[in-house]
Amino acid sequence: MRADLLVAGSGFFGLTVAERCATLLGLNVVVLERRDHLGGNAYSEPEPQTGIEVHRYGSHLFHTSNERVWRYANRFTSFTDYRHRVMAVVEGRVYPMPINLGTICSYFGAMMSPAQARALIAAQRAEDADPATLEGRAISLIGRPLYEAFIRGYTAKQWQTDPRDLPAEIITRLPVRYTFDTRYFDDTYEGLPRDGYTAWLERMADHPRIEIRLGSDFFDLESSPVGRVPVVYTGPLDRYFGYGEGRLGWRTLDFEVEVQPVPDYQGAPVVNYPDPAVPYTRIHEFRHYHPERAHYPGDSTVIMREYSRFAEDGDEPYYPVNSAADRQTLARYRKRAKAEPGVLFGGRLGTYHYLDMHAAIGSALTMVDNRIAPLFSR
Ligand code: FDA
Repeated sequence: MRADLLVAGSGFFGLTVAERCATLLGLNVVVLERRDHLGGNAYSEPEPQTGIEVHRYGSHLFHTSNERVWRYANRFTSFTDYRHRVMAVVEGRVYPMPINLGTICSYFGAMMSPAQARALIAAQRAEDADPATLEGRAISLIGRPLYEAFIRGYTAKQWQTDPRDLPAEIITRLPVRYTFDTRYFDDTYEGLPRDGYTAWLERMADHPRIEIRLGSDFFDLESSPVGRVPVVYTGPLDRYFGYGEGRLGWRTLDFEVEVQPVPDYQGAPVVNYPDPAVPYTRIHEFRHYHPERAHYPGDSTVIMREYSRFAEDGDEPYYPVNSAADRQTLARYRKRAKAEPGVLFGGRLGTYHYLDMHAAIGSALTMVDNRIAPLFSR
């Protein structure tokens, strides 16, 4: 296929651009994907022994308050009425997360009204703590006892750093709900794609004007397409420029997937482990994402332990570290990206900005409207 537009990366950002450009603008779109499957980090697949859908790159929960994104997503999949809920195990006791009235009452061992709980936390927040550190910021938001139980160990494991040595700006808010509402997200729409993420992503790509080339790295093309065809690049920003301004820092995750010979391992989709003595941050149990699926086995289940660390060469970049040094490096790359003719940078890796799926889809729709459609409207 002769391409009118080349897209590097087949995650939600790249596929949304490809689908809209093919469907609305009638463009032939070639999508290069360096992995051997499409879909970016939202990709999922059945675990071979059990058939249980596993999210290979970490649990993906869809939620949005954006009407346009919700309508767009529903063109390619229907959603179950799944509502995400998370538990945390602290010193052998189990609490609902994010912190809510149930967590507070259980942790302090007393039934409290919302007003009593607010007053208790307000008194604990009043402690004088160093506002420059993550620890100080967290204490000023939720008080020391809840911080030490639920945040300190978890954050230390996520960042391999004592929270007293982490900058305050890593957290802007720590939600506390003074009700017994245990829902994790408070968006208008929430659910999981009824027949899985990969089916949804494949339907987006299923268009006669879209060609997906798997196992195809943008940088392995024999000659650069830049200048010959418009390019939407969703790979790592620093890699595009040959790391010329330095490397941007990322955190990565290691996943340990196991089939357990029990019908239900932990009774919940995700359990967090803030205690420092436990090496992983959380355990995902995928069967709980789809209680409606009758074909899942009754005698076994799939769990995935998650470990967090700084990414090194060759690791998957998952979350931007976004240190002060990273932000300076990013500013230099942004300047170069703006000046790069014929290339638009988008998505989580291409902008060095964590994006939830709905945000990746929403910003891709905006790029098509504002940046790509005008190129072809002459
Ligand atoms: P994404 O990373 O998905 O896709 C980029 C693609 O580009 C990849 O397939 C990559 O292989 C490819 N690529 C890179 N360089 C290339 C090159 N040189 N040539 C060709 N291809 C190249 N969101 C949410 O809403 N709810 C959730 O619960 C979660 N959970 C979650 C967990 C974890 C661990 C992560 C890292 C992310 C999430 N997300 C999420 C975010 C979600 O994965 C995110 O919205 C999408 O990854 C963004 O889509 P992109 O297309 O930008 O990137």
